[in-house]
Amino acid sequence: MSDLQVEVMVLGSGPGGYSAAFRAADLGKRVALVERYPTLGGVCLNVGCIPSKALLHLAKVIDETRHFSEHGVDFGAPRLDLDKIRAWKDAVVSRLVGGVGTMARQRKVEVVEGTGAFTSPHTLLVETADGPTTIGFEHAIIAAGSRVAQIPGFPYDDPRLMDSTGALELAEVPERLLVIGGGIIGLEMATVYHALGSRITVVELLDGLIPGCDRDLVRPLHKRLEQRYENIFLKTMVQSVEATGDGLEVRFEGANAPEIDVFDRILLAVGRRPNGHEVGAEAAGVAVDERGFISVDNQLRTNVPHIFAIGDVAGEPMLAHKATHEAHVAAEVIAGEKSAFDARVIPSVAYTDPEVAWVGVTETEAKARGVKLGKGNFPWAANGRSLAIGRDEGKTKLLFEADTDRVVGAGIVGPGAGDLIAELALAIEMGADAQDVALTIHPHPTTSETVGMAAEAFEGTLTDLYLPRRKKR
Ligand code: FAD
Ligand code: NAI
Repeated sequence: MSDLQVEVMVLGSGPGGYSAAFRAADLGKRVALVERYPTLGGVCLNVGCIPSKALLHLAKVIDETRHFSEHGVDFGAPRLDLDKIRAWKDAVVSRLVGGVGTMARQRKVEVVEGTGAFTSPHTLLVETADGPTTIGFEHAIIAAGSRVAQIPGFPYDDPRLMDSTGALELAEVPERLLVIGGGIIGLEMATVYHALGSRITVVELLDGLIPGCDRDLVRPLHKRLEQRYENIFLKTMVQSVEATGDGLEVRFEGANAPEIDVFDRILLAVGRRPNGHEVGAEAAGVAVDERGFISVDNQLRTNVPHIFAIGDVAGEPMLAHKATHEAHVAAEVIAGEKSAFDARVIPSVAYTDPEVAWVGVTETEAKARGVKLGKGNFPWAANGRSLAIGRDEGKTKLLFEADTDRVVGAGIVGPGAGDLIAELALAIEMGADAQDVALTIHPHPTTSETVGMAAEAFEGTLTDLYLPRRKKR
């Protein structure tokens, strides 16, 4: 006999898990939500998306006040009270995770705090503070998320070597910070620490920052960072990190890096690993691949038909909005609805300064596959709003299917690009073509006009720039 019997057991309370639990409860199911930490919300709300965006907002305010001293308003150097900053960031997180807890109660979702592991295809054992408890279930949704990837041999017991969670704790502002990994986490946290006053070095294994995104979109970001950071070492490996009294001694191997250098702190951000091997999946018969991903079909079913997996543990991209979308599908399928994951695209955003956002097919991918696409570009240097906010490095790029002119991909770099990309995700979902986007009236003066104008550039109807004729119109 189980201590608790439910229709749907959700393991993990991140954006995937809590959304699945809530959707299932809204569809009339009796639901248990198992989470090992005392607060709900998972990585995203507690130590990911939300605290990082709070600190990025602070970075933006500091940068903008600095920038304005060149234009006649001098606010002076910022005086930092790290305790207050930390308390503010924690308050943002508390408010949000508290809201999730309240919604769980309102929906009568049974929250069980403790670490869960399957003991059979229909039971989960949870180690709680009061001892073990078993949950019996008809359906399960595994939403166990991911954890930070480590490089073997580094001194992880030294608090000066941080992962993203450590970096978000803001224990101090180091004079020199080394960021290992020029991906999204590395560059977002570098943005924060640079604004707070650290001198930043970024070391990236590959030949460019944010691999996976088109180079023309990353270039304006790289250029701006190059002017601000101490160093950006590409095609460079960290051979070793040694903790000494003076700092962390790092050996590099790469064309432009020194052989050895010493940093006050290091942020390791070289990717995340799915938690598939941490939930006793074998006892339930659920197949987990060697990396820790659980493969699923388009209804999020694992190889065991009544057990589903969603979010980071169910595959790339490891993004909160993908987890939430999958969560709704899994809960609906369990409730007997004809639901399936059929989103055409999942947008990606680096909340750096400038932000870099992209959705759908990239130019790099299209070229590699030999697919010919139409393209419309609009430089933000010709956008009034962009100049009014003192920024001209942005760019909006739209990619169109050759025969139909339908939007199949888009990329934007510039302040606020992450908000602008949503329109293009909708355009792709709705099968909009270049004319649809060009003829949509965008409000003036906004940076959203660059979306319409990139389509006009492709259509040959643009009057805000002089371009040699591209199309018939
Ligand atoms: P998670 O949020 O990882 O939640 C999984 C939960 O399961 C955790 O709470 C964990 O404690 C629990 N759990 C795991 N195993 C067990 C067990 N055996 N028993 C009980 N509980 C268990 N994504 C974005 O889209 N936008 C962003 O801006 C963004 N910023 C990020 C910034 C940082 C610093 C980091 C680290 C990540 C960021 N991400 C961002 C990624 C995002 O956080 C993840 O994609 C998202 O949290 C995945 O949701 P999930 O529900 O799959 O898993
Ligand atoms: P990432 O995969 O985005 O970037 C890791 C980077 O480290 C890559 O550029 C990789 O080439 C590099 N790298 C790998 N090994 C290395 C080594 N030994 N030395 C130097 N560089 C090395 O991973 P990251 O930044 O850790 O983020 C993990 C995931 O979290 C992201 O992929 C994303 O899914 C999610 N995330 C999303 C955010 C957003 O949507 N804004 C923000 C932060 C995280």
